Amino acid sequence: MTKYLVTGAAGFIGANYVHHLLQQEADTDVIAVDYLGFAANEANLDAVMDRIVFHKVDISDFEAMAALYRRHRPDYVINFAAESHNDRAILGPSEFMRSNALGAQVMLECSRLYPVKSHVHVSTIEVYGELPAERPYFTERSPLNAKTPYSAAKAAGDQMVRAYMSTYPNMNIRLTHCANNYGPFQHPEKLIPLAIAKVLRGRKVPLYGDGLQSRDWLHVADHCNAVHRVLLAELDPIHPDAATDPGRLPIFDISSRNEVTNQEIVHGIITALGRHPEEWIEYIPDRPNHDRRYVIEPTKIETELGWYPTRDFRSTLRQTVEWYVDNRDWWERIISKTGEPGFDWSQPLGSTAV
Ligand SMILES: NC(=O)c1ccc[n+]([C@@H]2O[C@H](COP(=O)([O-])OP(=O)(O)OC[C@H]3O[C@@H](n4cnc5c(N)ncnc54)[C@H](O)[C@@H]3O)[C@@H](O)[C@H]2O)c1
Repeated sequence: MTKYLVTGAAGFIGANYVHHLLQQEADTDVIAVDYLGFAANEANLDAVMDRIVFHKVDISDFEAMAALYRRHRPDYVINFAAESHNDRAILGPSEFMRSNALGAQVMLECSRLYPVKSHVHVSTIEVYGELPAERPYFTERSPLNAKTPYSAAKAAGDQMVRAYMSTYPNMNIRLTHCANNYGPFQHPEKLIPLAIAKVLRGRKVPLYGDGLQSRDWLHVADHCNAVHRVLLAELDPIHPDAATDPGRLPIFDISSRNEVTNQEIVHGIITALGRHPEEWIEYIPDRPNHDRRYVIEPTKIETELGWYPTRDFRSTLRQTVEWYVDNRDWWERIISKTGEPGFDWSQPLGSTAV
């Protein structure tokens, strides 16, 4: 039986991917790893817990991860584990560096010592930084230009992935950058579930600044399909020109070319909940150093791997709203554990006395 090692499995996308894997392949072994950090929720895996093996392990702990590889000998590795919330990274960057950079390297090193058929490192559009208004999109050839503590830690992980790809070309490492995701099981401190949960509890939705920050959005199921396709693809050996042209490395940008402002998203959610948007939005001070705009172009994954998104944004946003309406217990339990979601950036950031 094929063995998949999935890290970050109790988080939003990792959990969706585990569900996706088990739907695609009935006869499969899934080793799910998560250190159960702030954003994790074991309940995301409740429906499949009897079909997987779950380990609470920190991916930046080399000894623990190496022991896990030795024990299970995975065929495929998909590394979703990361600290993922930009707001939290501003308040505590160190744990982001440990998970997103050191953790990425530990995973690569384990796949080097205990070889696998392929290893996908899941990264984000945000490593490319902010896109000027006159430029349509980033591509795999764009330089890394991360500007926030979250995206800088992810970019550090990316650099290590690129270094391993080029230094150990037989390892079959692949790297993906995805647009912003939405769908079931997303932590209620992220924009879409946060907006839904606020309205359902009779509170206004906080929107940073003027709300015109613009992002590229993709349904999580399309992302899972893309990652799986990248994982299993038969790829040519890395071309020598990749040394100077990152477009020739096995890097794939994943998007549905769907650029939407935060304000449009929140309007869509409030309307789907049967309320008038302007009565339910509270404009609050913007997060410091907030990326204004980012969009990526998925031509490479479309033409080389034949992956195309299949979900329409408007209808799946409504379905997502319905999921959070129907699964109120799921997010209320998280909020009762982690506290009311939201950050107040009205005071200037300073150094913190210790
Ligand atoms: N959410 C998005 O819109 C988006 C878009 C593009 C890429 N990504 C990337 O996809 C991946 C998953 O994102 P997500 O939205 O599911 O995040 P998430 O925060 O919901 O889940 C991440 C999971 O990783 C776990 N984790 C973190 N550090 C760990 C460590 N050191 N050891 C073991 N487990 C650890 C957390 O406990 C959590 O369960 C991340 O790498 C993120 O950068 C996310």
